[in-house]
Amino acid sequence: MPGLIERAAADLKTAKYAIALTGAGISTESGVRDFRGPDGIWTKNPDMERRAYEAYGKLLKNPRKYWEENLNLPGILGDLSGVQPNAGHYALTSLEELGILKCIITQNVDNLHHLAGSKNIIDYHGNAFKLRCMRCGTRYPTEEYDLRLLKDAGKLPPLCRKCNGVLKEDIVHFNEPIPIDAAEKSLEEAMKCDLMLVCGTSAVVYPFANLPRIARQKDYGRGFSELYTKDAGHPATIIEINAEPTPLTADGISDYIIQGKTGEILPAIVRTISG
Ligand code: APR
Repeated sequence: MPGLIERAAADLKTAKYAIALTGAGISTESGVRDFRGPDGIWTKNPDMERRAYEAYGKLLKNPRKYWEENLNLPGILGDLSGVQPNAGHYALTSLEELGILKCIITQNVDNLHHLAGSKNIIDYHGNAFKLRCMRCGTRYPTEEYDLRLLKDAGKLPPLCRKCNGVLKEDIVHFNEPIPIDAAEKSLEEAMKCDLMLVCGTSAVVYPFANLPRIARQKDYGRGFSELYTKDAGHPATIIEINAEPTPLTADGISDYIIQGKTGEILPAIVRTISG
């Protein structure tokens, strides 16, 4: 592994536009369970995963009933309010402060990259501490709405102050489209980057798992190309940092994988860069 740490440090130092993609694996060392790892939430509770696939349909069908049924239920990830970032999150913040890392695109809804002080973050699957309007897309910090008061007054679902649309959690459910702002910005970053760190993800959930493939192939497909390729750099170097190989490894999309814990490997890379 030491050789790979040096290699990643050298690649990052020479990169012109490096970005990072992260998944649930980067937060396990903060005590937040992942989904498909050996102790993953879906691995251990296939029934819970099945119910998660039904949530968006239920919301669309009857937003009031959905809110009334779910308001008092604990979130799938448990109580995130006291959770703190770990050395892996802080290492990415350091890479940003060094001017090396330009953007983080995360699948995680746990807000930990924000808490770690990173600036340019795309919450691809939303943020557990926000609500989002299903009509105009406006987001609100959840604490701006007293949801229990609304429930007691029989005034659920919460409504958007701008357009009166129905608000939902900002978290993106299975079968729900990725919010257009996050989807577009992420495509631009994937096309622009010349290096992509892929940290703590099984890389099986789409469309997120397409981003490393787009960065590697620099071709989003007919019709879109000219829109996104005008700033396209060269095919990006893809570096995986994960506890186990993924389809990106198997399909030869990643140039190499550094297998192990993000909370150990990322700080080691930063130490090597900072010398
Ligand atoms: N360091 C490195 N890798 C780790 C660590 C760690 N400390 N802990 C776990 N891993 C690895 C696991 O082995 C697994 O390969 O991280 C990966 C996490 O994969 P998933 O649990 O599938 O999480 P993720 O890829 O983020 O899931 C994508 O699926 O359920 C939905 O919306 C949810 O955003 C989530 C999406």
